[in-house]
Amino acid sequence: MAHRYGTPLYFYNLADVRARTADLIAGLPAGARVLYSLKANPLLPIVSQLRAAGCGAEVSSPGELDVAGAAGFDATTVLYTGPGKTVHDIEHAVTRGVSRFSCESATELQRLSDVAAQHQRQLSILLRLTPTDSPACQLSMGDGRHFGFQPREAVLACAAIRDGLAVDGFHVYVGSQLTTVDALVAGAAHAKETIEEVATATGVAPRIVDLGGGFPWPYAAHGQGCELAALRNRLETLLANWCPARPTEVWFESGRRLTAAAGSLLTTVVDVKKRTGGVVVVVDAGINVLGGMSGLGRVLRPSATFHNLSSSREPKPVTADVVGPLCTPLDRLAARTVVDTPHIGDVLQVPNVGAYGLTASLTSFLSREAPLELVLDGDTVVSSWRLSAHTATAASC
Ligand SMILES: Cc1ncc(COP(=O)(O)O)c(C=O)c1O
Repeated sequence: MAHRYGTPLYFYNLADVRARTADLIAGLPAGARVLYSLKANPLLPIVSQLRAAGCGAEVSSPGELDVAGAAGFDATTVLYTGPGKTVHDIEHAVTRGVSRFSCESATELQRLSDVAAQHQRQLSILLRLTPTDSPACQLSMGDGRHFGFQPREAVLACAAIRDGLAVDGFHVYVGSQLTTVDALVAGAAHAKETIEEVATATGVAPRIVDLGGGFPWPYAAHGQGCELAALRNRLETLLANWCPARPTEVWFESGRRLTAAAGSLLTTVVDVKKRTGGVVVVVDAGINVLGGMSGLGRVLRPSATFHNLSSSREPKPVTADVVGPLCTPLDRLAARTVVDTPHIGDVLQVPNVGAYGLTASLTSFLSREAPLELVLDGDTVVSSWRLSAHTATAASC
């Protein structure tokens, strides 16, 4: 494929998406619903495959919602999540038929109510609750500040619920990459306790509870996420009793667990430098192609692993820094990683990048529109520019 299509090249295998989805559903309590988090990979054929495999959709931007629609999801079944929803985002969603939102704050509640009134619609709300703790995970949401309502705020919000809105349940997301079954069960237990605390205080018996997920899979490195075979029984036991009342529907969300394994990145070695302390390998895929620059918490740390597909000789591993082609010292995919001796022209494969790969860069993450760039001469605006956001269009091959 590298020779035929050139590199850098992402390729995804839908069979892996189907296998991983079946595996996750088998690990969850009977009747639980899995929502696919489009942030992990919004490519249309992947999203369509997840719909066909029985997942719902969790979106957090107009771009993701449009992809979900194109993939055949009925907008009334989509859950719209994420902090910082603008009136424009909510209107875009409501006019496309979305009726269920995870709500993050009192301000957002007001915006949802205003848009509901303007469009004469009734919206179903899951109040997102701030986790106060989280089990060991690689990306915790549990610092108690950024996401959702704290219990006291949720009580006030329920008391002040406005026309056009109905609180149908609660949403808790404790974090990503809960790497063991124990951690996954602890995460679900914390979500349940948080919901029960607020349900008891507000008197709102939730019809729907979204317990988040955190289902793990390695990122850009060899390996697999933990086996989930033991999870179903443990979750069923945990969820057998609810206070004050049993919800009708239990939902989970997952991105990486469903798509990471399906994706690989192929990159070609452009240069090799022998330096004291190790080899430096320059490849044609940098952090513009894999992971993004900074600040997402999912940015590729210097830990990617590479399989040298061109090496037909006896394996001769070397320790190398693998760097991309960008003019910044930040453009490093791996520091002191072990790779079978690379030669110029060799093709290297990075595994497990079907989630948070190409679109998890700063301008494309969540398929948000890139900011406007204005060019001024003195006080005069000379021209304006906007990078086209990542909306993948079918390419002939
Ligand atoms: C609210 C929410 N749901 C779902 C996800 C998907 O996480 P993952 O891809 O690790 O399953 C995230 C990731 O940040 C999230 O913040």
